[in-house]
Amino acid sequence: MSNKNSPLIEFDSVVKRFPGVVANDGVTFTIDKGTIHSLLGENGAGKTTLMNILYGLYQQDEGSIYLQDEEFKIESPTKAIELGIGMVHQHFKLVDNHTVSENIALGLSTASTVRPTKDIKRKLIELAGQYGLKVDPDAKIWQLSAGEKQRVEILRALYRGAEILILDEPTSVLTPGETERLFSVLEDMKSEGRTIIFITHKLDEVMEISDVVTVLREGKVVDTVDTASTDKSGLSQKMVGREVLFDLEKPSREIGPAILEVERLSALSDKRVEAVKDLSFSVHEGEILGIAGVAGNGQRELAEVLTGLREATSGKVLIDGKDVTNSSPRNIADRNVAHIPEDRMHQGIVGDLTLKDNVILKAYRKKPFSRGLLINYNLVDEHTRKIIEDFDIKVPDPDTPANLLSGGNIQRLILGREVSSNPNLIIASHPTYGLDVAAAEQIRQLLLEQKGRGVGVLLISENLTEIRSISDRIAVLFEGEIMGTIESGELEREELGMLMAGSPLEELEEKNR
Ligand SMILES: Nc1ncnc2c1ncn2[C@@H]1O[C@H](COP(=O)(O)OP(=O)(O)O)[C@@H](O)[C@H]1O
Ligand SMILES: [Mg+2]
Repeated sequence: MSNKNSPLIEFDSVVKRFPGVVANDGVTFTIDKGTIHSLLGENGAGKTTLMNILYGLYQQDEGSIYLQDEEFKIESPTKAIELGIGMVHQHFKLVDNHTVSENIALGLSTASTVRPTKDIKRKLIELAGQYGLKVDPDAKIWQLSAGEKQRVEILRALYRGAEILILDEPTSVLTPGETERLFSVLEDMKSEGRTIIFITHKLDEVMEISDVVTVLREGKVVDTVDTASTDKSGLSQKMVGREVLFDLEKPSREIGPAILEVERLSALSDKRVEAVKDLSFSVHEGEILGIAGVAGNGQRELAEVLTGLREATSGKVLIDGKDVTNSSPRNIADRNVAHIPEDRMHQGIVGDLTLKDNVILKAYRKKPFSRGLLINYNLVDEHTRKIIEDFDIKVPDPDTPANLLSGGNIQRLILGREVSSNPNLIIASHPTYGLDVAAAEQIRQLLLEQKGRGVGVLLISENLTEIRSISDRIAVLFEGEIMGTIESGELEREELGMLMAGSPLEELEEKNR
């Protein structure tokens, strides 16, 4: 082909917009042949979108993609496959009722039906043997574990001649042992000259498997570096960014008694591995405790246990001195606990319902909104209008369906609803995630106001600048454990970055001595 030194893939100023968000905002970087190239970034950074463009699932709005200096419009996955590009999606695209070899045969131009020919089966077994990707060609997809399904997807891509293989967060469905096996398969492919694009938000994996890493943040490339010339702490800083904040005034306030006490709490993840490990901490009235850390280190599980959505396997949760361990979400909410959930579209609001209905989702059982079995709609209307006004929600009227609101407006609606019940404790999970700078500032300001009123706030966030700007104390979570708790302002960002990458506080103190 063309110039040997030219990059295999070049993204040049790629822009992709979705309603209300620029998912890829002028993305420019190159990928060399025969390398494992990681795409690192927080949730929402734009990794999947960019790769969906390369795989022909989406078209960019602006910018170009070059393969060995030649510009291509990749208008469909068929075209991508033709160009030697394969993709293993985060959510597998296999047909459950079909066998492994039928799935491989599906969509192959040589096979007229889903009936795999002898040839297909033979080649599949050969490929599987060559890469140690063990699967039974006659097994139905539904019988397979997630790890096995992933092997089928990889085999399918290889079968179609993928020279470039994109893997979207492939380890999220794997056990540690399966991850190691996958990595050795990827190494084998690389040694044959194939190119791997590895999407992840896990720093360990980037350092372990990739030659080069491109860090994306809010749709933009932060940096592309050789992994040999960086480390986890450097990467975590790039990932969480250095966004400039307006100076927020922290209301000074006497720290009161503990409102939330967590004692030696443990809990399992969905995959049944320990995600929260023997955690102890407390949040006091009039205090914001920030929980910092890279996503996936137990934050979600912790928030879920505290709000009654996940079972604690051991330990205790006390709210206002009362043991609420493994109480229902409703019982916990009734202890004047407000919750700003991580997944605001699914847990925070019901999109199809109007603002009004969303506002009374939780309060409908209580006076003054309910009169026996009836709901006092006039009062609800009045209350919703007040929230709309107080929290600056841009919406024509209270009867608008909530899913027509932008992210910032939805978040203010949730906060408004939660705060209007006069909570003593707010558990806020990534409250500004996905919001633009101004909307994020407003949410932080609102949390500070609550603190000023004596409310205790547990703020879980990946955004270090945010955590530092409004927390009184910061606890850093790594692999389900607190690496250290510090007064805000005590440690610099770099040091927080180290804690987030798993170096305990004592080690840092040793170093500084
Ligand atoms: N099909 C879509 N429609 C609307 N918005 C989308 C769509 N896909 C992604 N987005 C938005 O684009 C941004 C980037 O998302 P994504 O590429 O999935 O990020 P990542 O893979 O890094 O987590 C997010 O704000 C997301 O909500
Ligand atoms: Mg993604």
